[in-house]
Amino acid sequence: MRIFVLNGPNLNLLGTREPDTYGRQTLSDLEDRMRERFQQVNFRFAQSNHEGELVDLLHEARGYDGVVLNAAAYTHTSIALRDAIAAIDVPTIEVHLSNVHAREAFRHHSMLAPVCRGVISGLGMTGYLLAVEALIHPSI
Ligand code: DQA
Repeated sequence: MRIFVLNGPNLNLLGTREPDTYGRQTLSDLEDRMRERFQQVNFRFAQSNHEGELVDLLHEARGYDGVVLNAAAYTHTSIALRDAIAAIDVPTIEVHLSNVHAREAFRHHSMLAPVCRGVISGLGMTGYLLAVEALIHPSI
């Protein structure tokens, strides 16, 4: 099983970025936790602050069994990312660390959710683990 975990803008700063909202763990802590928890999964991890690069990375996810995507702020704005998800035909789960629905109104709408398998928001890093669980076991 091959899963692509893709993180968008500003998530490289996890650990120091608005810790009250995003916690104190870093992106590499998250990657370690995912590898440790799912030793049977072959992960690829990537992060980019650039919309076009995220599109390219989504294209590289073709052939994977699933994508866990936190597109961060591009979630709320990007038609290009939405079209890329629709184009690659790989089950994609949208994840947010924070509960976007409990925050500013501009975070309530996702351009990506309609083309994603599902959305997990507000459960911190646990959300990424649950997304992998859902890709491994699409139905129970
Ligand atoms: C986020 C929520 C987004 O609204 C925000 O722009 C982020 C992070 C989250 O993980 O909670 O950068 O995707």
